[in-house]
Amino acid sequence: MHQVKLAENTYYLGYNDRRTHLFENIWPIPHGVSYNSYLIVDEKIALVDTVERQFIDDYLDQIEAIIGDRPVDYLIINHMEPDHSGAIKAIKTKYPEVTLVGNKKTFGFVESFYFKPENTLEVHDGATLELGEVKLQFQMIPMVHWPETMVTYDETNKILFSGDAFGSYGTLDGGVFDDEINLDFYEVEIMRYFTNIVGKYCPHTQRAIKKLAPLDIKMIAATHGPIWRTDLDWVLSRYNKWSTYDTDPGVIVVYGSMYGNTQKMAEVIARQLSERGIKDIRVYDASKTHSSYIINDIFKYKGFIVGSCAYNNAMFPNVQTLITTIEHMGIKDHYLGVFGNYAWNGGGVKNLMKFAENIKWDLVHDPIEEKGALKKDKFEQCIDLANAMADKLLQA
Ligand SMILES: Cc1cc2nc3c(=O)[nH]c(=O)nc-3n(C[C@H](O)[C@H](O)[C@H](O)COP(=O)(O)O)c2cc1C
Ligand SMILES: [Fe+2]
Ligand SMILES: [Fe+2]
Repeated sequence: MHQVKLAENTYYLGYNDRRTHLFENIWPIPHGVSYNSYLIVDEKIALVDTVERQFIDDYLDQIEAIIGDRPVDYLIINHMEPDHSGAIKAIKTKYPEVTLVGNKKTFGFVESFYFKPENTLEVHDGATLELGEVKLQFQMIPMVHWPETMVTYDETNKILFSGDAFGSYGTLDGGVFDDEINLDFYEVEIMRYFTNIVGKYCPHTQRAIKKLAPLDIKMIAATHGPIWRTDLDWVLSRYNKWSTYDTDPGVIVVYGSMYGNTQKMAEVIARQLSERGIKDIRVYDASKTHSSYIINDIFKYKGFIVGSCAYNNAMFPNVQTLITTIEHMGIKDHYLGVFGNYAWNGGGVKNLMKFAENIKWDLVHDPIEEKGALKKDKFEQCIDLANAMADKLLQA
């Protein structure tokens, strides 16, 4: 195996997962995902996070190939989600004297998932640990995206081991460092990783970005995706934009439709938005496109127009799934439009309006609900809704 180094004695030990279809068994990863662990070989030897359990055997072999008979002295646990903690038990078994390094929340999780840890070093905000040449510092960044989340900063080499923060979907296909890769490949994948996994915790992410700003960071080594050493601003500016809900003047039109009546309304709205000069319009069928992608575009564009046919007194189930996710994530600062279709006594629009009340976005127009085929009156209302949305976006 190639040995890939971040610094003289700091090794990248990562694995590419091209087999898993759904990350966290929810989010599609057609381009896979990487799990990055790091090994620092100094007077003392430290691992920073581990890997997903399917890679344990090779992981242990690779560590041994680098350190030979020496033991791992410290296992630093920045984050306990099993995609990174998966090999903790294996490390403990192979290196029984290893000291687990975490904060006051970490070790409870270790006990819940794996075993009751005995050999531990509890660190607090700003605490340091000297390995020899390398001096490490710990910073707590709770809820980005778990309660125990912290980062480890190598003061000597100025490397931030950032855990999931600044991570990305997408495997590392040969290239590991940002300057080895055409980053266009990660443009969508890094945003989807952020919006899908961390998107609920934007305020916490903002707090973390501000907290880490004083550190002199020359390299960001996250647990997923590329290692940033040349264009740190590429990733930092994006995380900053997304976590402040800073959107562009485009519109997502999403609909749930069985027989095409609701879809027809969506097409009318989209065309009118275009007539008004809106260039970024994305129309999605909620039954076809996974909410992973739709959520991503909601973080990208300020306008959101949602339509649903009525379905057993409720909204269409696949629209409901998306709506529940948006509410759960508490996404802020959008313009909203609502439309739908029914035949008996409704259910789609009625429930979408409950969402509108809860999410408190700026409703640009009264909801529109057609009965069956789209007729002149509701057609004109669809035009009005699109115009109202365009007005808002163009005046901004
Ligand atoms: C399984 C099923 C459940 C439905 N439930 C309702 C309902 O609860 N209330 C209602 O007004 N219409 C209900 N409808 C009628 C549809 O909402 C109506 O036909 C609408 O025009 C469908 O829009 P679409 O063409 O976009 O699928 C239901 C239809 C189906 C097939
Ligand atoms: Fe995680
Ligand atoms: Fe992760």
